[in-house]
Amino acid sequence: MNEREHASVCVHSKTIASPGRGILAIDESNATCGKRLASIGLDNTEANRQAYRQLLLTTPGLGQYISGSILFEETLFQSTTDGKKMVDCLREQNIVPGIKVDKGLVPLPGSNNESWCQGLDGLASRSAEYYKQGARFAKWRTVVSIPCGPSALAVKEAAWGLARYAAISQDNGLVPIVEPEILLDGDHSIDTTLEVAERVWAEVFYYLAENNVMFEGILLKPSMVTPGADHKEKADPETIAKYTLTMLKRRVPPAVPGIMFLSGGQSEMEATLNLHAMNQSPNPWHVSFSYARALQNSVLKAWQGRSENVEAGQKALLARAKANSLAQLGKYSA
Ligand code: 13P
Repeated sequence: MNEREHASVCVHSKTIASPGRGILAIDESNATCGKRLASIGLDNTEANRQAYRQLLLTTPGLGQYISGSILFEETLFQSTTDGKKMVDCLREQNIVPGIKVDKGLVPLPGSNNESWCQGLDGLASRSAEYYKQGARFAKWRTVVSIPCGPSALAVKEAAWGLARYAAISQDNGLVPIVEPEILLDGDHSIDTTLEVAERVWAEVFYYLAENNVMFEGILLKPSMVTPGADHKEKADPETIAKYTLTMLKRRVPPAVPGIMFLSGGQSEMEATLNLHAMNQSPNPWHVSFSYARALQNSVLKAWQGRSENVEAGQKALLARAKANSLAQLGKYSA
C-alpha cells in the first residue's frame, strides 16, 4: 500500500465509524433483490430495482444517521430516473459509497456440505474500477454454518479468502469490511455460538496479519453471538450483548476502528435493542450497525412499489436509521 492508499483507507474507515452513524446495506444481488421485490408483488426488473434503490438513497436527512452504504455493482454504476448518479446522492449527504465485491457462495468440495466464497480472480482490477466509480469501501461476505460443523477446512478457507480480499482492497484504496457470517440456523446454544465465533475470528485475524493487512483500515461485520434460531430458549439483549462483547474483546485488537453488525434475520426491533445493549458501557471500538433486512423490512411494507408511497417509505427508513443511531449511542428507548 502506498501513502495515498494508506491515508484513504484510514480516513474512510474513521468516517464510517463515526458516532451515531452506521451502514445501510443495500447490496443484495439481483436474485436476492428480486425476492424482496416479490414480497410486495413487484417483478424483478432493472427499473424496479432502480426505483427501490433511488427511494432509499435519496431519503432526505439520511446522512445524519448513515455514514456508509454498501451497493451492488448495478447500483454503483446506475443513475436515478432524473439522471443523477446514485453515488452522488450518497456523497451529497456525506455518506461513503461502498461495493459488494464477492461473487457469492458455492459448495466446498471435501467439506461437510459447507460452502466457500468466490471472487478473488480479477479482484484487483475490479477494485480499481470501483474506486474510480466512487466506492471507498468494500464488502466480502462468506458464511460459516454451525449445524454443518463447521469443519476446520471451511473455517480456514473462509478466513484465508477474507484475508486475501482485505489485502487486495487496501492495495486499491478501499476499506475492506470483513464479514464471516456465522449463520443463525440450528438449534445450538449460545455457548456453542461463542465457541465457534472465537474459533472463526482467531483464524481470520491470524490470516489478516499474515497478509499484512493494516488493522486501522478495516471494518468488521460480525454476527451477534446468539443461540441458534431453533434453540429452545431465546436470549435477551443483555445476554446477547455480554456474549458478543466477550467474544470480540477476546479476539479483536483495539486498532480496528469499527464493528458494524449484520442483522442476520433478527427483527428490526431485536437488532436495535441488541445494539443498544452493546453500547451501555464504553467499548474499544465503535460498535454500530450494517443492517440490510433490519433497515429495509418496514420500508418495503410502506412503499408497496407505488410512487405515491415513496415519502412513506423514506419516512420508514429514517425511523429505523434514527432508532439504530440512538442504539449506537446507547440512548435508544422503545
Ligand atoms: P442482513 O442485515 O439482512 O443480515 O444483511 C447483512 C449483509 O451482509 C448485507 O450487506
